[in-house]
Amino acid sequence: MSSPLYQSPKGTHDILPDDHLYFSFIKKVARHHFRMSGFRRISTPVFEDIEVFKRSMGTDSDVVEKEMFVFQSKSGKTMALKPEGTAAVVRAYLQHGMQQMPKPVELYYIEPHFRYSRPQKGRYRQFHQFGLEVIGESDPAIDAQVIHVAHCINRDLGIDDRLVLQLNSIGSSEDRKKYKEELIHYYTGKERSLCEDCRRRMANNPMRLLDCKEEDCQILASLAPKIHSSLSPESKVHFALVQEYLNELGVSYELNPTLVRGLDYYTHTVFEFWSKKEGAQNATGGGGRYDGLIEIMGGQPTPACGYAAGMERIAECMKEAGIRPPNKDKVDVFVAQLGQEAKKKALSLISALREEGVNTVGAIGKSSMKAQMGLADRMDASYSLILGEVEVREGTVIVRDMRRGSQKTVSSKGIAEEMARILGKKKLSEKKLWEE
Ligand code: HAM
Repeated sequence: MSSPLYQSPKGTHDILPDDHLYFSFIKKVARHHFRMSGFRRISTPVFEDIEVFKRSMGTDSDVVEKEMFVFQSKSGKTMALKPEGTAAVVRAYLQHGMQQMPKPVELYYIEPHFRYSRPQKGRYRQFHQFGLEVIGESDPAIDAQVIHVAHCINRDLGIDDRLVLQLNSIGSSEDRKKYKEELIHYYTGKERSLCEDCRRRMANNPMRLLDCKEEDCQILASLAPKIHSSLSPESKVHFALVQEYLNELGVSYELNPTLVRGLDYYTHTVFEFWSKKEGAQNATGGGGRYDGLIEIMGGQPTPACGYAAGMERIAECMKEAGIRPPNKDKVDVFVAQLGQEAKKKALSLISALREEGVNTVGAIGKSSMKAQMGLADRMDASYSLILGEVEVREGTVIVRDMRRGSQKTVSSKGIAEEMARILGKKKLSEKKLWEE
């Protein structure tokens, strides 16, 4: 087969109908847990003033340094496609005066994001995240609850036992000042063993050296001083309480003193869910506290905590676990017909079935009955309803059970309601909205 004239841009992919089974299911489970925990949905534009990201994530984070899709608006402003959700949510929180709302303000989003990184498995230039942010509360119970929501989503998606929660505290900015000095002291004289990026980061952000993926840097990181000894008594209490609450909630975790996260805005609790499978791109999601960000973005000092997960990575993890989400798009009924009169009747029968909530296709083309039955088979329809000239004349319809291969002729009166009953379908107007 010759290759097509056009392909999706490098690092992006089409989400095909079979993939959407996973995406729809992931969204449904995530939304359920968000709602149960009092979150309300927010959507922000796919692009923002580049300063929103520079200010929030830090100019020497990988994302800002190398991974932003940047463009110039016609008025000459520099814009960037949104590489993550937190900065934009904080911008919206301040812009719309959400400080006046009862605290904590709990928001969630399900959106595409863009990072211009080298494409590889699990790392794309356009990817999708669902995420949540809790703004306005410093209680460590919030950290534990955010992690618990993430844990429950993983559990209900069936991937919980394939993941391990990594947990650390990176303390307050004062704690980190002290710790950074210790790190600089430790790394001084070892520069030649570091990769180029780490050598550059040493001066302004030595903590990033701890989560470098280069082998030599990882060896040095494992021997580096640990942050815990630099934490103030208050920071230690905060972290101890987070762990106590997680224990109470039955969420297991591994303490990981080298987990720092790649974005500058974090304080205190940081966490990631890592796949137990070997491989570099193995975090399905991560988050933490960001008590300084709202102030950095121009607001009053306001504590906050959040989490985001990559939907492509979660879907991949589900596939590896052999999980097949329910297929709500499945064709229930195929309507086949022969002759012009039958086609007209078939059209109104299809419409009646759809109104009853039955997924129905048919009345397509001018094929023979054999070809139509072949199509019904390929579409994996549960039933076929067959209308020929005789059936139209006699007011009947043939109902064929496609699995059993059996069929019977019945009156066409009330057949749509009867099929809905057999298939256990409900009309949209009868559905309770919370069943959606
Ligand atoms: P993040 O760790 O940068 O955190 O991204 C969260 C998740 O998005 C990752 O664990 C991964 O599953 C997915 N992800 C990130 N980059 C890519 C990519 N290039 N391709 C595919 N998936 C990717 C944040 O974005 C923070 N805003 C999370 C947060 C919310 N912190 C506080 N609140």
